[in-house]
Amino acid sequence: MANENQGHLSRRQFIQASGMAMASMPFLSLALKKPENGQAKNPGDSSFEFSFLTDIHLKPEMNAPLGFQMAIDKVNALNPDFVITGGDLVYDVMRGDYAQSEMLFDLYQKMSRGFQMPVYNCIGNHDLFAIYEESPEGSDHPDYKYGMWERYFGKTYYSFDHKGWHFIVLNSLDVTEEKGYKGILGADQLDWLAEDLRKTDQSTPIVVTTHVPMLTAYWQLSGKRGNVGVENSAKAFQLLENHNLKLLLQGHIHWKESGIPNDRFEFITGGSIAGNGWKGRRHNTREGFVQVKVQGESFSWEYVDHGWEAERLKLQL
Ligand SMILES: [Fe+2]
Repeated sequence: MANENQGHLSRRQFIQASGMAMASMPFLSLALKKPENGQAKNPGDSSFEFSFLTDIHLKPEMNAPLGFQMAIDKVNALNPDFVITGGDLVYDVMRGDYAQSEMLFDLYQKMSRGFQMPVYNCIGNHDLFAIYEESPEGSDHPDYKYGMWERYFGKTYYSFDHKGWHFIVLNSLDVTEEKGYKGILGADQLDWLAEDLRKTDQSTPIVVTTHVPMLTAYWQLSGKRGNVGVENSAKAFQLLENHNLKLLLQGHIHWKESGIPNDRFEFITGGSIAGNGWKGRRHNTREGFVQVKVQGESFSWEYVDHGWEAERLKLQL
């Protein structure tokens, strides 16, 4: 369990803090130290759990820090081996206000140190710096697009191993000619993925994380195609075809869905932490996260409500 006196604010402190800039939030530096990445809690035991939190949309307003801290506290109480995030860590840096963008990533970085286990981050569309037309910064800015995210969190696509499972985190985003974003896996990344899989035994269970869904029923159910899918996802699935893909974790839509196409693997679109911009449910999906329990080669999962809806209603947001 988390030490209640370290790295945690009281709800009253959070409510007071909302709307303040990070410069006035020195208390967040009290966040707890994490163990080394990939450190097994119970060596020899092949079972483990991890949490998948997507679409956090952290910002100082709307009591978002309070809601995120509630999720962090819930994860720490469940005590998984690690956390994977699904992108849209902050809201947002696309419009290119440098000071605001720095403040947002700084806030996320400081708060996420409150997780008492390693955190593996995935990039979302709202994390792409200065890509919109209205941005005062151009594409020559060193932090443009992926730059700021990379400066804070490292590579935008990578893999790691845990207890015999292989985890691949993808960057599902790029910028269009019209200065919007689109769901796509870049050519360099697909080359990297082919090489990563070449080095991975075909029997190794694999979990892939992407912000923009590579599989979703959203557009067929809603009739709105929008920017909800990765346009070349088939290329990644073809590379994964002769591997032991078990689970695909996705974000972006802020709704919860799952399926098992052709008995091959399971995909989960994991709801969201922020709901509809912290002011209510989006697509009638309650705010929450996915808790995955792995046992040998199999897994089960559940959607965890970290209590934000009840808190939000109490606060009459
Ligand atoms: Fe989002």
